[in-house]
Amino acid sequence: MKKAGLVVLISGFGSNLQAILDAVDAGTLNAEVRAVISNRVDAYGLERARLAGIPACVKSRSKGQTRENYDAELAELVQGYKPDLILLAGWMRILTMAFIGRFPDRIVNLHPALPGTFPGVNAIERAYQAYRQGEINHTGVMVHLVPDEGVDLGPVLGQQVVEIRPEDSLEDLEKRIHACEHVLFVKTIQQLIKRMEDKDAKSAAVGVR
Ligand code: GAR
Repeated sequence: MKKAGLVVLISGFGSNLQAILDAVDAGTLNAEVRAVISNRVDAYGLERARLAGIPACVKSRSKGQTRENYDAELAELVQGYKPDLILLAGWMRILTMAFIGRFPDRIVNLHPALPGTFPGVNAIERAYQAYRQGEINHTGVMVHLVPDEGVDLGPVLGQQVVEIRPEDSLEDLEKRIHACEHVLFVKTIQQLIKRMEDKDAKSAAVGVR
């Protein structure tokens, strides 16, 4: 079965990228990571990609460049790798339709909170504070498609509740959430790839009839 082509967009540490790379290595994901692209030159995830022998590049926004123009250039760069899926693994820039419109149903975002909660940056910290104030009693993680410019919003592909314990420090909660993300992200991508493979097999069967 043909491997799914992935392009992973990152902005930072890249632990979720690493989970994907490890799953590809282990054969858990029938995929190849074709490129890792960061908007930040100091993202450690770039080093992870290089260590794995995967093309890694930085796409920074030039001075005065509009978001749409940056996104159109980013889309060109990504399209060059002909990805089946584009994974936003800690990508901390809001994408405009200049990018999203080029890849319908192919952009997948990971967010460290449950659907509809704590969109944007510092989601774990905000959930932790909300818990301390008695506003929530658990948090979670989600993976969703990116259909438009809504922040951390879109059809949910996978979600997992993460408990918060009274004795938790913020670091404890961060650790638990990241561990959960690494599993859920891989599992959800695996399901998506399986769905794509089933669809291909079906259209091939129709083709031979
Ligand atoms: C992850 O927790 C991811 O869910 C979050 O950034 C972190 C990246 O960690 N993304 C968002 O907050 C998107 N709004 P990593 O660089 O170690 O994978």
